[in-house]
Amino acid sequence: MACSCCTQRRLEGKVAIITGGASGIGEATVRLFTKHGAKVIIADILDEAGEKLAESLSPWATFIHCDVSKESDVSGAVDLAIQKHGQVDIMFNNAGITDAQKGSVAEYDAKQYECVMNVNAKGVLHGMKHAARVMIPAKKGCIISTASVAGVLGGAASYAYTASKHAIVGLSKSGAAELGKFGIRVNCVSPSGIATYMVVKYMQNGSSGEGEGREMVEEWANSVGNLKGVTLKVEDIAEAALYLASDEGRYVSGLNLVVDGGFTVVSQRPRLGTVPASRL
Ligand SMILES: NC(=O)c1ccc[n+]([C@@H]2O[C@H](COP(=O)([O-])OP(=O)(O)OC[C@H]3O[C@@H](n4cnc5c(N)ncnc54)[C@H](O)[C@@H]3O)[C@@H](O)[C@H]2O)c1
Repeated sequence: MACSCCTQRRLEGKVAIITGGASGIGEATVRLFTKHGAKVIIADILDEAGEKLAESLSPWATFIHCDVSKESDVSGAVDLAIQKHGQVDIMFNNAGITDAQKGSVAEYDAKQYECVMNVNAKGVLHGMKHAARVMIPAKKGCIISTASVAGVLGGAASYAYTASKHAIVGLSKSGAAELGKFGIRVNCVSPSGIATYMVVKYMQNGSSGEGEGREMVEEWANSVGNLKGVTLKVEDIAEAALYLASDEGRYVSGLNLVVDGGFTVVSQRPRLGTVPASRL
């Protein structure tokens, strides 16, 4: 017999908007949230994949084309949730991109920096703003954003991506500080490397993000990861988002929930005593 925590629907009666919900972490979260009884608006620029996913989960999910870098699109997604379901309980600002610049800051292309910041940082600001617009009068709500281990460490990703993910942590803490008085919790979740389309494409310098590339990225993530014997999957991040969105996390606000198997708390340099002093 299944235990009660396996059968319990932890988001019964809730309405969630998930940006970047058509693929990767977002898609896994759409699937998990609907399984737990939430009605979900999938807000993404990938129309075909988003529509297909929504159709497969009908009537629990609805797709809307939404470019998070455009405030009017994010506002429209929030308005759709209100029109269709009368409320927004959970805003998951998850959409994100990276640039492929791996070189020195001395040669950095500022246009690409702007592009990444517009989606990752400004996109989260838009999501927080329009969620707050409807959550403040309701005096409840939960805002979650996807940051990254690159929002904790320097040097783990490009300058633009690192800056944008640090910005998300800051936006979330500021949101938690302001919106707590309205009963609104604001948190972020910071994954380590997972073989999603975005990461495979980045690692392979712009290839299709499919096929063997995924295995290659998983192998790489496992080799540099701290926790051995486990491969981080999109479902692990969906579970972290579920915890933050559900009543189990009802007193958690201002948290950056880092899901990295201890990667960011361990020095990536070899430990003293494990290599000859001459090589340190
Ligand atoms: N995969 C990882 O290793 C990893 C690690 C840390 C953080 N993240 C973050 O997780 C989030 C999800 O990425 P993923 O790994 O699932 O990759 P993914 O490429 O599978 O998903 C990203 C989604 O965001 C959507 N998107 C991109 N630009 C958008 C825009 N302007 N407006 C709306 N939607 C847009 C894409 O269409 C896609 O559906 C991102 O914020 C990413 O930075 C990923």
